[in-house]
Amino acid sequence: MKIKKAVIPVAGKGTRFLPASKNTPKEMMPILGVPMIQYVVEEAVRSGIEEIIFITSYGKETIIDYFDRNLELENYLREKNKDGDLKLVSNVGSMVEVVAIRQKEQLGLGHAILCAKTVIGSEPFAVLLGDDIVLGDIPATQQLIDLSLKNNMCSVVGVMNVSDKEVSSYGIVEGVQYLNERTLKMTKMIEKPKSYETASRLATPGRYIFSKEIFDYLEIIPKGSGGEYQLTDAINLMAKNQNVLSYLFEGERYDTGTIENHLVATIEFALKNEHYKKIIQEKIPYWSKKYEI
Ligand code: G1P
Repeated sequence: MKIKKAVIPVAGKGTRFLPASKNTPKEMMPILGVPMIQYVVEEAVRSGIEEIIFITSYGKETIIDYFDRNLELENYLREKNKDGDLKLVSNVGSMVEVVAIRQKEQLGLGHAILCAKTVIGSEPFAVLLGDDIVLGDIPATQQLIDLSLKNNMCSVVGVMNVSDKEVSSYGIVEGVQYLNERTLKMTKMIEKPKSYETASRLATPGRYIFSKEIFDYLEIIPKGSGGEYQLTDAINLMAKNQNVLSYLFEGERYDTGTIENHLVATIEFALKNEHYKKIIQEKIPYWSKKYEI
């Protein structure tokens, strides 16, 4: 069996990116000219995903349009012989099939995923959240899919190690070792606990594989952390009734959810690219003198 569908929730208000996110979705904020959401969609596509289900809200149409063709622009670039730009634009437009579902009220991540129930049907599916970008030779989602495939298509939560300070910003996984040291059989998942409330430092940056039963749990969870329906609470319930694994995936993860972290990610992405790295290198002596860094 193949996992062909991925749900990417993009309905949030993005208040951490104001004023830019006032009428441009935060997911469209670029890192080196590429919208952040594109890095996430590319991870999904490289993992074999053929259809993206965006959970959207009012004002997020730009994201859906972005993954559509823009034939007028393509014709214009063709006429002007701008082959490089033409390739960039047409690649994005034909990257993947896109479905948009409106989440009419922002009732939490759990509610957002439940909105995809009818489009998903009974197939297992992936979920990718956009605040973190994960780079690596084998995409994080692919690693989770591989583990799920080897384990009866069970649900898998991708995790990474975080510091004590970061625990309260994430869904945290507790479990017992299973198969190898990267894999746990989940015993519990807690949404944004205080660091003293759990001994675990395994957090999910928002990479999951789910079997269809997740919808049964999403339908019965009460409101949780922050007064919202939390995906974490549904996973926790699922782990009490069936096999749910967590996997410490390999890859470099960049939190891009705040302006500060977005800045750091931008600099690191630039340093990974020979062209941009050269520009930074040439500027460093001037900057260090002028700003005393
Ligand atoms: C959400 C999830 C949380 C997860 C995080 C990853 O929280 O609820 O479990 O660890 O995304 O970014 P949010 O950051 O949307 O509050």
